[in-house]
Amino acid sequence: MSSDESKRGITILVTGAGGYIGSHACLALLEAGYNVIALDNMVNCWKDDRLPEPESLIRVQILAGRQLKFYHGELLCKPSLEKIFEDIIQEHKKIDVCMHFAALKAVGESCAKPLEYYKNNITGTMNLIELLEKFGCKSLVYSSSATVYGDPSNLPISESELTGVGLTNPYGKTKYMTEEILKDLCNAVQDWGVISLRYFNPVGAHVSGLIGEDPNGIPNNLVPFVAQVAAGKLPKLKVFGGDYPTKDGTGVRDYIHITDLITGHIKALEFILKDFKGFKAYNLGTGKGFSVLDVIRAFREASGKDIPYEIVDRRPGDIAASYCDASLADRELGWVASRDIHDMCQDVWRWQSRNINGFKKEINPNCILHSPKKLELLLSSLTKTELRKLDRQHHLEILDAIDQQKVQEGFDKLRRLQEVVKASGQLGAADSPAAQDVGLPFCGCER
Ligand SMILES: NC(=O)c1ccc[n+]([C@@H]2O[C@H](COP(=O)([O-])OP(=O)(O)OC[C@H]3O[C@@H](n4cnc5c(N)ncnc54)[C@H](O)[C@@H]3O)[C@@H](O)[C@H]2O)c1
Repeated sequence: MSSDESKRGITILVTGAGGYIGSHACLALLEAGYNVIALDNMVNCWKDDRLPEPESLIRVQILAGRQLKFYHGELLCKPSLEKIFEDIIQEHKKIDVCMHFAALKAVGESCAKPLEYYKNNITGTMNLIELLEKFGCKSLVYSSSATVYGDPSNLPISESELTGVGLTNPYGKTKYMTEEILKDLCNAVQDWGVISLRYFNPVGAHVSGLIGEDPNGIPNNLVPFVAQVAAGKLPKLKVFGGDYPTKDGTGVRDYIHITDLITGHIKALEFILKDFKGFKAYNLGTGKGFSVLDVIRAFREASGKDIPYEIVDRRPGDIAASYCDASLADRELGWVASRDIHDMCQDVWRWQSRNINGFKKEINPNCILHSPKKLELLLSSLTKTELRKLDRQHHLEILDAIDQQKVQEGFDKLRRLQEVVKASGQLGAADSPAAQDVGLPFCGCER
């Protein structure tokens, strides 16, 4: 049995699967061969009313050439969540590991709506853990954050730094409190295994430019904001604070490419699957700090666009610098980040410039998923030999994937199409002339 086949027997439940990090995780899990059960209440991911799943996950499955099982589920509604668990167990017998991404994450909003944040992030996690335990899964990879360190006294920040001290917002506190709950659980119940991954600043997008971060409204984070300024959607960037004790006076952060972040999750998963028990936290970052002005420069270079900015007063609660010591993850999980700030900016720009409105879009009649014409155009861009390999009629029927009853059939066909097009070298490189001619392969690929 190949290792890929052996992973087919391993089922991973991914909460918050339709969101930025969850969707990239689903893609990596599918590509690695795991069974993926995706759950999301869709408060922060976009779905077309006519389609059964969030757009991010439709794209994930097409990129992976494999299907996942999606549940529209709410962590706060325990009875309906329990029904979902019953259904999962009936179909897959067991859940091996849960990757728990679902949370509300806007720092500013958490100050305005603290109860909503505590309820969603803490009660939601409690409901999830109780049901995992009830249905026989005691392994969890948790999405934590560098915010648990507050304003740290040492740089770089290592995992031995105190957590929970000087936290300035409810969002950060929910991450800290959830870690404490998970630690207590692991202390009390010996066979729980929890790995908490403390992300520094995840940025970037999948190299295909088909999935990425799609903030609702005005972005809260620097890089998506800069990307929208570069794309002309926002007029200018406000840089909060130019008088910090840093090399150029602007705040310094440790940015990590989403693909590296997800590789860290796969390593943590492999570690848990080797029968890890107890609670362990790891920093995921590059260990390098970049200032806001560094990011602006790198983004200018990647996009070739001007990024107008103005330096304004510091924002309450922000700290001068934060970057991590990621050597523990290297030593114990065998993980190191390999992508730099230029890779991050290039990949964000590819995603942003091709999906000017993120996943939200009018259905474009020329989109491959929605238009026979577009599909024909794609097929006609293949060579005659490749065409012979295809059953042309079959591929026209791919469009039936939109019809829920034919989703399985549609995905099988999409996978076959993808294999043929990949083998012809025309889909693999999103920048290839063929890809540009047909605007491959989805709505929202405007450039
Ligand atoms: N993106 C970052 O910069 C960052 C940094 C540190 C930690 N994190 C953590 O990583 C995780 C994922 O972040 P993201 O950037 O992908 O966020 P995101 O908002 O893009 O994704 C979170 C997903 O969870 C879903 N969700 C929220 N509450 C839910 C509930 N009660 N039931 C079911 N689904 C629910 C949302 O609809 C959304 O699709 C979060 O836990 C976040 O706190 C993110």
